[in-house]
Amino acid sequence: KINQPTIVFIFGGSGDLNKRKLTPALYNLFADGHLPEMFLVVGLGRTDYSDTSFRNYLLKNLKTFSRRKVDAKLWKEFSQKIAYLDFDANVKNDYNKIGKLIEATEKKWKAAPDVLFYMAVSPAIVPPIVTSLSRLNICKQKNCSRIVVEKPFGHDLESARALNKLLLTYFDERQIYRIDHFLGKETVQNILALRFANALFEPIWNKRYIDYVQITAAESIGIEDRGDYYDKAGALRDMVQNHIIQLLCMIATEPPVSFEDNEVRNKKMDVLNAIRKIKKEEVSRYAVRGQYAGGWMKGKKVKSYLEEKHVAENSSTETFAAIKFYIDNWRWQNVPFYVRTGKYLPDKSTLIIIKFKEAPKFSFPAQATDNWKANKLIIRIQPEMDIRITFQAKIPGQEMLLAPVDMIFDYDESFKEAQPEAYETLLLDAMTGDATQFMRGDQVEKAWEIIMPVLDFWAEKKATDFPNYLPGSWGPDQSDALIATDGRSWDLVI
Ligand code: BG6
Repeated sequence: KINQPTIVFIFGGSGDLNKRKLTPALYNLFADGHLPEMFLVVGLGRTDYSDTSFRNYLLKNLKTFSRRKVDAKLWKEFSQKIAYLDFDANVKNDYNKIGKLIEATEKKWKAAPDVLFYMAVSPAIVPPIVTSLSRLNICKQKNCSRIVVEKPFGHDLESARALNKLLLTYFDERQIYRIDHFLGKETVQNILALRFANALFEPIWNKRYIDYVQITAAESIGIEDRGDYYDKAGALRDMVQNHIIQLLCMIATEPPVSFEDNEVRNKKMDVLNAIRKIKKEEVSRYAVRGQYAGGWMKGKKVKSYLEEKHVAENSSTETFAAIKFYIDNWRWQNVPFYVRTGKYLPDKSTLIIIKFKEAPKFSFPAQATDNWKANKLIIRIQPEMDIRITFQAKIPGQEMLLAPVDMIFDYDESFKEAQPEAYETLLLDAMTGDATQFMRGDQVEKAWEIIMPVLDFWAEKKATDFPNYLPGSWGPDQSDALIATDGRSWDLVI
């Protein structure tokens, strides 16, 4: 629990992120007793709400989006801590309202609060908000004001650099929290525990024993009503530049000496620095893109990407991306990291597969085994959450026949504790000033640098074969070809 009196300002208070993720996260933190006595969350937006109508609007959505059932008494208590402020980012005077509210609250509490400014707004209006906010006194108090910036953090390397520069003009790096919600997931945080709290895995966690790594972030939904944003982004910007590269860093990082935020982030930076640069002329050897056609998905007819609302005619935006990365350092030299992500794939499933090399001499009858299934460590991030080791075992009987079997750690079986949502963990971290699970400015820029050649090449060379995969399939054929050239295939998603 944090004791420090705290005010959270949510820019974009009447928007989607707040109703789906932020308010449910704060409500659950409150229910679990993690919030301080003196706590206020202020939604800011242009919609015409009173405090009461804003609370009612949030409550309606909370019932849909909260991980725990909403308790009437608890909500009543929590809702007293919610306020709404009519706010237009372009009206200078509206920033004074924020200053005044902080002063009034400080007087009421008889204590100086920490303040968290959460940018849950479209990226275009982050710069004007940041610039005007910085004039408030509270922002000059570096220890008690922080700013959370949502993804997308820039649109490319250049705009990310510009945004970093702007933020750093007014705030110190330690005040800036660039959020990547994947880092708040329990299963993702557990990767460091698995690797570094056990001496079992580390000795074989390298090129000598690992054949390849696969990271899949599959989604069974389309772009829904986000055409406006998505058509300018695409799968590479939406998922790879941030979430998937972060997962790769968790698998590939050297052991941090401590869990101090900059130590963990320095180690991840080492991984990013070692990722082999893909030359523009080699992009088609390393990366594949796809776009979904219309068709059937789990018995329902779905539109093609090009028929979705707010998508440009003949759009060349990819809804699927697969890339082969290499990390040029002692641990990972020549171990491929195959990553893929896409919309309208068969299942919602995010998982990481570490495939170990075959036994040096296989003395068992070859026909007796399903060897490709074994020798793997599989980390399922979501929605199933478990870790399994798949290995060969003798089938009971008179013959020496083998079959792959699983050794499984399942969260629900091993732990009774409820799992907090990623946003709960990250909001609490931001409130307490722990930046370990947030992206530092240099990390974000480096991640852009890594994918820029692919983005540039794809932008110059429009896809001629779109749409090239059916809903409910595992993406375009080229995705299989990308990995087949190495004599491998995508592992089945279990
Ligand atoms: C978001 C992307 O960052 O992550 C979405 O913008 C995607 O397109 C989402 O659907 C996936 O997150 P999760 O936690 O549902 O896997």
